Amino acid sequence: MAKVLVTGGLGYIGSHTVVTLLQQNFEVVIVDDLSNSQASVLDRVEQISGQRPPFYQLNLCDESAVEQMFDKEPGIDSIIHFAASKAVGESVAKPLLYYKNNLLSLIHLLEQMNQRGITDFVFSSSCTVYGQPDKLPVTEQSPMKPAESPYGNTKQVGEQILQDACRAYPSLQVIALRYFNPVGAHESALIGELPTGVPNNLVPFITQTAAGLRPQLKVFGQDYDTPDGTAVRDYIHVVDLAEAHEIALRRLMNDKQKENFEFFNIGTGEGHSVLEVVKTFEKVNDLSLNYELADRRPGDVEQVYADTHYANTELGWKATRNLEEMLTSAWKWQKRISQ
Ligand code: WQD
Repeated sequence: MAKVLVTGGLGYIGSHTVVTLLQQNFEVVIVDDLSNSQASVLDRVEQISGQRPPFYQLNLCDESAVEQMFDKEPGIDSIIHFAASKAVGESVAKPLLYYKNNLLSLIHLLEQMNQRGITDFVFSSSCTVYGQPDKLPVTEQSPMKPAESPYGNTKQVGEQILQDACRAYPSLQVIALRYFNPVGAHESALIGELPTGVPNNLVPFITQTAAGLRPQLKVFGQDYDTPDGTAVRDYIHVVDLAEAHEIALRRLMNDKQKENFEFFNIGTGEGHSVLEVVKTFEKVNDLSLNYELADRRPGDVEQVYADTHYANTELGWKATRNLEEMLTSAWKWQKRISQ
């Protein structure tokens, strides 16, 4: 049984990926510093999968703690690295925290891999590396634009570090998955998105407004050059995203890579506007949402959605869940945690 270390494994995408891996008979070890997650998620993972992976609460910037964890967990074959700070606005206010946390953690992991002969690494990257693309849909050949935030820059620099490491160490095998907009929750509603404080992201803000936790949703921007004037994104169900990680891992394990550093766009290939998401949420959940059209949010791009041809044909992965399923599962999750 392959043994996989999942960093950030109690987080939103991490916990859904852990469940998928356990259900596919992987042995999993979780590392998380609980800065943006809760230890109780491990109980939910056990409830869903019937297994309770070993969990180490540590910050990957703490080199000795990382070393000790690897000593306690011999035989790790591969790593899926989610652990990172990811709030775009916060990264503008606290750039040094973001560069330290997101890059030092990555470097510590790569050093351990080098020392212990671990070769397979899946990296949590983001469509944010493209900025506002000149052409849509975005392909893997679309140029990286100067990052719009320190957070986005840590993803660009993170990929550069991995590319350089793969050049220097030919045995290293890396896949970077460039996520578009992850939304929704596991069908059990036992795990889902747990934003800390006021949600930055659209869907948790919608569900919290519907649950009465927020008075009103503001739709940021009504004058974009899009069909209804609101911004367009490629929303992807978090379970589709989790499954992409398992498929990427198998590609590495089975030595199917064309080169030892690869990256794939992980989206649905469909763009939806903010108003489309709001209207779909109201329709599938049979409710009315209190929202108002407001000014643009600084730093937002107008439209971004993926060309998924490469992931579909080369990686052998395709999203299967639609926007209705994303928004139904998001609401089911919100109702459970708001009880
Ligand atoms: C989506 C749309 C908002 C909140 C972010 C990160 C990106 C990636 C995905 C990690 C935008 C609008 C939002 C609200 C709104 N994360 N919106 N009212 O900004 O596309 O991407 O998440 O890799 O790095 O930047 O996602 O959900 O914040 O916004 O109108 O209260 O919803 O303006 O058009 P975004 P988002």
